Amino acid sequence: MQRIAMLGSGFIGRFYAESLQGYRSRDKIVSIYSRREESSKKFAEDYKVNHHTTNMEESIAHPDVDIVCIALPNNLHEEAVMLCCKHKKAVMTTKPLGRNAAEAKRMLEAVESAGIFNGYLEDLVYTPKFIKAHESVKNGALGRILWAKSRETHPGPHSEWFWNIEQAGGGCILDLGCHCVEIARSYIGKDIKPIEVMCWADTQVKPIDAEDHSIALVKYENGAIGQFEVSWTFRGGLDLRDEVMGTEGTIWINNFLRTGFEMFTTGIGADYVAEKAESNTGWLFPVGDELNELGYNHMFMDMFNSLENGSSPKETFYDGYIVNSVLDACYRSAKSKQWEPVQLDIWRGKEGISKDSHLIEYDNDHYLIKEEVTHYGAKKVILKNKQTGRIFEKEVG
Ligand SMILES: NC(=O)c1ccc[n+]([C@@H]2O[C@H](COP(=O)([O-])OP(=O)(O)OC[C@H]3O[C@@H](n4cnc5c(N)ncnc54)[C@H](O)[C@@H]3O)[C@@H](O)[C@H]2O)c1
Repeated sequence: MQRIAMLGSGFIGRFYAESLQGYRSRDKIVSIYSRREESSKKFAEDYKVNHHTTNMEESIAHPDVDIVCIALPNNLHEEAVMLCCKHKKAVMTTKPLGRNAAEAKRMLEAVESAGIFNGYLEDLVYTPKFIKAHESVKNGALGRILWAKSRETHPGPHSEWFWNIEQAGGGCILDLGCHCVEIARSYIGKDIKPIEVMCWADTQVKPIDAEDHSIALVKYENGAIGQFEVSWTFRGGLDLRDEVMGTEGTIWINNFLRTGFEMFTTGIGADYVAEKAESNTGWLFPVGDELNELGYNHMFMDMFNSLENGSSPKETFYDGYIVNSVLDACYRSAKSKQWEPVQLDIWRGKEGISKDSHLIEYDNDHYLIKEEVTHYGAKKVILKNKQTGRIFEKEVG
């Protein structure tokens, strides 16, 4: 059993609480910190939490607390993490880890030198669909991974601090790109170094200082390419889609908007449909079990199993730091309009690997370009002579 201090009683704090306690779980939130007395009290009532406070340190230091779950606005992550280090409490932090790589690096170094458990709550690499797809990728079902694309777009966040560039640290690149980068990175291989990025970003709709729409390419050292599409201007709900393509196959995942659950209502008895759904009448796309489909259950299971086994979870502060470093390069690229290198002061994966070869051996003298079976029944191969470079085709049995 883990006894948890929840920091933050807002949108994600409540999603986490539902996941932690909603399934007859043996884990329990024992302290809730929130900025305002009435919200900490209400959260404590709703989730039967014994201790509530408006003092962050008091919650972290509470003697009943084994692990702290940080569900606070981005500008407060570092302060909360440093207090966990001070009180030697295991810590899990929501995404993004920091507002930038410098903050993330300070947090990573602090938890490691304090010797405390650290987990990065990147739920979207724990969705049932991601877990299944990732297994197939790891088993080689798609061959060598060439391209991994992730898209998260919705009509914009639900609280004022997200829209304040100082508190949030950025716009949709930071808020949504952090998910997409980690999804693509996981498919391509977390030990493969992201080396440079090209990013377009603009403020197209909202009267804010940060970007509300962005598209980026992230190049990896083995030649694979990651891609993200993120927006706070998309109309029609929460669009969460991933695509991964390899030399032997492809996977397309639709996580949220079109999951095979479709419903029509005139609006009578209208109710909550799904996160960021813009309508509750007409044709709707509800989500069966958001907690599970967004990965929260599998994520906390990994966190607590790892904590109890003395091992590292799949996602740690190190991963959060890598993600922040990629996103920092995106911001530089959006400004410079150039490919920008990803600056990694800390890197624990493979070093100096060369781009994977694109040459497929056919026989001693030829490379294979393609095998073809035509509509009129002919079977042929298209080959390239290794010496002369000549490309030709020949019919085969
Ligand atoms: N899928 C996900 O993993 C996911 C989804 C949403 C949000 N988040 C992350 O969770 C964190 C919190 O986001 P949220 O959506 O719960 O926000 P929210 O505004 O709904 O809740 C924020 C909570 O922090 C508390 N708080 C303390 N000091 C505050 C201050 N100075 N200003 C504002 N709030 C303060 C508020 O009382 C509230 O309980 C962010 O880092 C966000 O990026 C993650």
